[in-house]
Amino acid sequence: MPHTVAFLLLLTSGAEAFRICAFNAQRLTLAKVAREPVLDTLVQILARCDITVLQEVVDSSSSAIFLLLRELNRHDNSGPYDSLSSPLLGRSTYMEKYVYIYRSKRTQVLESYVYNDQDDLFAREPFVARFTLPSKVLPSLVLVPLHTTPKAVEKELNALYQVFVDVSQRWHREDVILLGDFNADCAFLTKKRIRELVLRKQAGFHWVIADGEDTTVRASTHCAYDRIVLHGERCSGLLRAATAFNFPESFGLSEEQALNISDHYPVEVELSQAVPGNQPLSPLALLLAVLPSLWLSQLGSAA
Ligand SMILES: *[C@@H]1O[C@H](CO)[C@@H](O)[C@H](O)[C@H]1NC(C)=O
Repeated sequence: MPHTVAFLLLLTSGAEAFRICAFNAQRLTLAKVAREPVLDTLVQILARCDITVLQEVVDSSSSAIFLLLRELNRHDNSGPYDSLSSPLLGRSTYMEKYVYIYRSKRTQVLESYVYNDQDDLFAREPFVARFTLPSKVLPSLVLVPLHTTPKAVEKELNALYQVFVDVSQRWHREDVILLGDFNADCAFLTKKRIRELVLRKQAGFHWVIADGEDTTVRASTHCAYDRIVLHGERCSGLLRAATAFNFPESFGLSEEQALNISDHYPVEVELSQAVPGNQPLSPLALLLAVLPSLWLSQLGSAA
């Protein structure tokens, strides 16, 4: 029944997942990005994702991101990509930016703000942004990135709940993804303390990068530092996959080579049906869709 097969293929093609990634790129400076093997690998990592939140970007002049974006846009036809950077954030002379790199033909930034951290709870307060999604089910999604300071992981992760409340009230949205290098494991946060977090005890938050995952490059460490937490029924309903991306293995890099890029893996979620008109087919609709070709093939065999 070639008709049926072709028709089903037509239905499923185009249902390309929308991939959102978070990557602690470990002190991303211009000097680092300017090294060719580093730049090549970063470009390959970014080109897999529709949106990446880069963390630990130490780039006051924005020249590192400029170079990275230029190479990314030359890389293949997956782009063009655009970026949105936070200001430098930090309490001392050491400051970092959050930088969103996004595929501008699939998604756009609608609004953004740096969380107003009146009580100075965060070393690097979240840089919240709302992006469009190519989905009828969920036309936009809020991202809340956080790179915690190892000194106050528990305090910052509990304060992250306040950021969620702030953004959901401000924009009247409940579909939110909290993501980044939370340092939420090993020496920085015990398993017991993780279970006590507000974001664990409150209903409705789905930790899709689970305890026990390894988001670190070194073979000698096994820690789930980097996390993705989903909130909202529509957002959670679209979840197709969540994983740490083992880039050394995928790109055939030794541990030593990989550590020149970062000591973290990127973490990522794939949202399904992020394409207009790709509603899930009910069994009845599927039957109605294939009936004509079944009928035609019956005619064919009868003749
Ligand atoms: C890591 O980067 C340094 C500095 O550029 C370089 O000298 C070294 O060869 C790199 N190591 C690997 C394994 O690629």
